[in-house]
Amino acid sequence: MVESMIKDINLAPQGQKKIDWVKSHMPVLNKLGEEFQENQPFAGKKIVICLHLEAKTGYLALILKNSGAEVAVVASNPLSTQDDVVAALVKAGVKAYAWYGASDEEYRLHLNKALDFGPDLIVDDGGDLVSLLHGDRKDVLNNVIGGCEETTTGVLRLKAMHKEGTLAFPMVAVNDALSKYLFDNRYGTGQSVWDGINRTTNLVVAGKNVVVIGYGWCGKGVAMRAKGLGAKVIVCEVDPIKANEALMDGFKIMPLIEAAPVGDYFITITGNKSVIRAEHFKVMKDQAILANAGHFDVEISKSDLNELAEYVVEVRKNILQFQLPDGRSLNLLADGRLVNLAAGDGHPAEIMDMSFALQAQSLYYLLKNKLEPGVHGVPEEIDSKVAQVRLEALGLKIDRLTPEQIEYLAGWQL
Ligand code: ADE
Repeated sequence: MVESMIKDINLAPQGQKKIDWVKSHMPVLNKLGEEFQENQPFAGKKIVICLHLEAKTGYLALILKNSGAEVAVVASNPLSTQDDVVAALVKAGVKAYAWYGASDEEYRLHLNKALDFGPDLIVDDGGDLVSLLHGDRKDVLNNVIGGCEETTTGVLRLKAMHKEGTLAFPMVAVNDALSKYLFDNRYGTGQSVWDGINRTTNLVVAGKNVVVIGYGWCGKGVAMRAKGLGAKVIVCEVDPIKANEALMDGFKIMPLIEAAPVGDYFITITGNKSVIRAEHFKVMKDQAILANAGHFDVEISKSDLNELAEYVVEVRKNILQFQLPDGRSLNLLADGRLVNLAAGDGHPAEIMDMSFALQAQSLYYLLKNKLEPGVHGVPEEIDSKVAQVRLEALGLKIDRLTPEQIEYLAGWQL
């Protein structure tokens, strides 16, 4: 068996079933997997994947392994790891260093173990792997050809590193591809966040006041689906353009301090810290539900909640209830971690199909082209190819421009 640090290898059959299920709903990755299996583009290369370790990620890891790479996986969040999926990967010959609920210390140990592998290529989600490589693990930095970043928070961190002149290798910002954020961030987050909240709370959304904080692509999806579930949606924003967008999409906008006393659900999705804090908790309704969908668990101030509360009870799996001295209770879901992954299975398979096809193609692009250190976009051909292959897989056709139309669009004269 390959080297690993996991919970229990006996969970592998259950994990394999989960992987088999998503595989039958990921046609773009299936097609790419067939091509890669034939051509073995990653032969002799070592790839470390630091993503949410659930079934779709598992399938990506297997595809890369079948494309010739030696693969190691590590979690991008200790509460999103599914131990059975990780066991299935180890059984299939993928190194894995992760278990559900790893402490901060264990999480760091796992990241370090994965880096001991000496990767040529990396896939990161949120930037922890890149950050460690440029900090304590500079010993393996020179080996890295480059990598891909999955999410908005990670891309922001990479851009900050590049601006400072510290980013030592090229990173492809997969998050910023159109085939990624238009679908994954909007429809993926929109659906999976409500899936996580609903399966955790088992409460009705229709008729409730839902406060969505942050109106980026993810926030737009969450607000759109809240409306579809019959909620009255309030959006809180700091950006006047996005606030106007929310308004014209049909939502109420107001500062959080005004939304706090009326909200039944609060969902943070800003990428920032201390977004909901003491001043807001103090005026919230009894039984308000607090959920975070941003990458880190810093958006809802847990320290403020702990300071305000007399005591805390786990009232249901993934719900911590903070009992305040005035008799009100506030319910925090999934310990303030990404609710769709820590209390759910992440985005739907068909959505991750596109995102992970972009990841695999971008790794190949990095390998074939000598890119400068910095943050690179996904090439347009890869972006539209992924969208095209998905349409083909669905048996759908679209129109083509005529030569006359192409010429017309390229011209400027009257
Ligand atoms: N599954 C694997 N990675 C994910 C991500 N970044 N967001 C949602 N679901 C995922």
